[in-house]
Amino acid sequence: MTSLRIAPSLLSADFARLGEEVRAVIAAGADLIHFDVMDNHYVPNLTVGPMVCRAIRPHCQTADNRPVPIDVHLMVQPVDALIPMFAEAGASLVSFHPEASLHVDRTLQLIQSLGMKAGLALNPATPLHLIDHVMDRLDLVLLMSVNPGFGGQAFIESSLPKIELLRKRIDASGRDIWLEVDGGVNARNIRRVVAAGADTVVAGSAVFTGGDYRRSIAALRDEAAGGRA
Ligand code: DX5
Ligand code: ZN
Repeated sequence: MTSLRIAPSLLSADFARLGEEVRAVIAAGADLIHFDVMDNHYVPNLTVGPMVCRAIRPHCQTADNRPVPIDVHLMVQPVDALIPMFAEAGASLVSFHPEASLHVDRTLQLIQSLGMKAGLALNPATPLHLIDHVMDRLDLVLLMSVNPGFGGQAFIESSLPKIELLRKRIDASGRDIWLEVDGGVNARNIRRVVAAGADTVVAGSAVFTGGDYRRSIAALRDEAAGGRA
């Protein structure tokens, strides 16, 4: 297995100092920047859009100028009109919820046609079979382990068997599809999340609460390393 990717969610960052926060988590070892877009329609909260994505783009690089991908998680309905705007704003990956798009296959194609990686985000109650007929278009699956809308919620334990089932489906497909888990992941449960099959984890409050980002990310990696098969 490739090494674990950790994607700090900016939802728990200080929004008044976003560029600085992005640079700090990258210096602390973040592999991706997770960017949560909420519209007060698909989810009961409102966050940021393409303009803020564009504003953080110049900050998304390592000290030696390696670009760090922006992992956009769209919790919006409808989806399609925002996709070219995020491509323009420098997003690298875009995931959306299948319930929020009338034509899931078309939306995936739209994301990829603009040179970005495409993902489906599945809520805790959304069945895995929704990905069955689009496996060949998926670059990632974003499996939600909380209901979308807020940072800092408790990890839903029934996500663990779901991660295992999704890992089996991805392996059986023989495709290089990332399995990213989002919601309530912390140093106390990441070992089980990774053992169940996640290769990418989102961590908002677990990274940004506490202040020492390097230490928080290192704690996640150390704990996760014990969970690998
Ligand atoms: C929830 C978001 C998550 C969230 C993760 O709707 O999609 O990305 O910010 O935050 P934590 O890790 O605090 O659950
Ligand atoms: Zn998210």
